[in-house]
Parts: sequence; C-alpha cells; structure tokens
Amino acid sequence: MKITLSVIKADIGGFPGHSQVHQKCMDVAGESLSKSDLLIDYRVMHCGDDLELIMTHQKGVDNKEIHKLAWNTFLEATKVSKELKLYGAGQDLLSDSFSGNVKGMGPGVAEMEFEERKSEPVIVFMADKTEPGAWNMPLYKIFADPFNTAGLVIDPSMHDGFVFEVHDVIDHKKVEFHTPEELYDLLVLIGATDRYCIKSVKTKKGEIGAVSSTQRLNLMAGKYVGKDDPVCVVRAQHGLPALGEVLEPFSFPHLVKGWMRGSHQGPLMPVNFKDAHPTRFDGPPRVIAAGFQLANGKIVGPADLFDDPAFDYARTKANYVADYMRRHGPFEPHRLPLSEMEYTTLPHVMDKLKERFKPIE
Ligand code: 13P
Ligand code: 13P
Ligand code: MG
Ligand code: MG
Repeated sequence: MKITLSVIKADIGGFPGHSQVHQKCMDVAGESLSKSDLLIDYRVMHCGDDLELIMTHQKGVDNKEIHKLAWNTFLEATKVSKELKLYGAGQDLLSDSFSGNVKGMGPGVAEMEFEERKSEPVIVFMADKTEPGAWNMPLYKIFADPFNTAGLVIDPSMHDGFVFEVHDVIDHKKVEFHTPEELYDLLVLIGATDRYCIKSVKTKKGEIGAVSSTQRLNLMAGKYVGKDDPVCVVRAQHGLPALGEVLEPFSFPHLVKGWMRGSHQGPLMPVNFKDAHPTRFDGPPRVIAAGFQLANGKIVGPADLFDDPAFDYARTKANYVADYMRRHGPFEPHRLPLSEMEYTTLPHVMDKLKERFKPIE
C-alpha cells in the first residue's frame, strides 16, 4: 500500500511571544483536519511556536488538495491567534491567497511517498528557533557515519551506503552525492549550513529514508520574518538505520543558527514534548522527536522519544554551552556574522550610521 506522509508546519502566532502555540489554535487545527475526507489520519503537534500538521494520505507529494487543506488549516488557526491577539499572528503565511502549493508561501514542508513495509517505524523531528541546515549534521551521522550507525558496518542491507540530495537554497540548485564514496565532497557543502541543506536521503535502490523541509523563510520574504524552524522525517529499521541510530546524533547538542531574533548561534537541545517551549533568550533552540508506527496509513503514536534520561546529559551540556555562548552578548560567534544578518533588522541600524563614516587618511 503506497502511503504519503506529509508534515507541513507554520508559525501562525505565538503564546506568549515566540514561545509556544496556544491550545485553542491546536484544537481549531485538529477540527479543520478532521472535517477533511482527503486524509487517512493526522496528528496536530507543536514545537515552540510552530504548529505542526502530520498527515497520511494516498495523494502523493506536492498534492494541491493536501497543500490547500494545510493552508486553510493555518488560516483557521490564525483567526484564533488574531482573536487572542497572540504574537505574530499568521507570521509565516507570506501571501493572502493560495497558489496551489504551500512551498514558497511561508510554511515548511517535508513529504515522502513509500510502499508501507511490514512494519513502518517513522520519526518526525520538529525544531524551533533554528534553520533547515540544523539537520545536516544529524542526517550525515545517521546515514553516513559508522561511529554513529553500527548498521553501516554490520548490516549487509545498509553496507552499500546511501544517496544524499543537497539543495543550494540561495541558487536553487540541487546535487546528489553517493556515500561512502563521496563523503568528502558531501562534507565540503553541508558544513555550510545556511546555504546547503540535505533535502533527502535514499538507499542506493531508491528507497526513501529521510526528507527535510528546506524552506528559508527570510530568503522568501526578503526580510526578517522569523526563523524557518524546520522539520525532518526519518524512516527506521529494516535496511534503514535503527530507531536508536536515528536518535543517537542528538546526544550531542551541536551549535545551530537561530535562537534570539534568528540572529545567534546556540546548541540544539533535545527535549520532551512538554519542554518544547523556548524561553531563555527565546531559546536555546530545541528539537523534539515524535515516534510513530504506521498501520495501513493509520498513525500509531506519537511516542515522545527524547523523554528519556539517556538524553539528560545532552540537555545538561546544551545548558552549559548555552550559558557559555550567552556570555558573549552581542559579540560573534554568538551573534551571527554580518553576512548572515542581512535579513534581520540590523541593516536598518547600520543605515543610520552610514553618514558618520569618514575616510582614513
Ligand atoms: P531487539 O532484539 O530488541 O529486536 O533489537 C534489535 C536491534 O537491532 C536493536 O537495534
Ligand atoms: P520564531 O522564528 O520561532 O517565530 O522566533 C522568532 C524570534 O525572533 C525569536 O526571538
Ligand atoms: Mg514566532
Ligand atoms: Mg518558531
């Protein structure tokens, strides 16, 4: 049975500030999806101030009806945000009218179509206060690093390696790399996380393993709106990395871009659902992992996968690193370099200083 799993998300207003989604917005989003006969099943979740729609259906990826349903659901939730005067109501909805596909209109999208296996474990990662490049290091580790994923060494069905599709989000180009043969070429690009983002990973036989949202909100809007706060879907087991191999990279809270005003570097902290509300300096950036089994398209779950003491050490470390970074205040590398502040409000402040510059003799 061919199933499409669509995860479409948007910030439709925060409660309070940019910290979380109000329960009423979640309820309205659920009602909107429940009325549709397009879906097999759905879940409504949030990570921080981002509303996450997790949907299964049989219409394939980039389907107009599914995208319209998501768009209308965001509009319904935005109505509630406006009534309650929540912060940045409708923040990520960059247009007033739907054009057939939510890509380029603000929301983040990660979709995959696959033949449902005998058992189909999937993990939906959802992050707040960061950008799509945040997935580069974990996806690399999951599918290409034998020190993370034992299966690359010991499982004959994974030993051949994987194919990574990388997007240049500035020039709108894509390129594929085969691993392990082209590991070093892959790393040349994906280390530059604000420009090159891993869009998908497939087995060499073409089975989809992972897909991420690569929408860059500020590049689309041409100004600072908010951060992209990306999602990433990974299938696990049976020729793909085991559930624990998929989660393992998050035991290291790597530095990502985002945090306060989308302008800072900070550690990506893995948290349980209940703690998915960034507060300290609007952060630190966080990620949740919702584990599901699919049964004929029906969604079994979610399981709260980072709700595990095994990730306590990563959280402690993230807090330590967050504190260390914070002590730099407005100094780089806590604050992003000027080249990446282009889409923030900083250039407006710089404009005011322009006239005061004089040539050095
Ligand atoms: P079980 O023996 O519990 O099924 O686990 C197998 C496995 O591969 C764990 O990574
Ligand atoms: P969001 O991208 O999550 O809305 O956060 C924006 C922000 O400016 C946080 O300080
Ligand atoms: Mg927000
Ligand atoms: Mg957000």
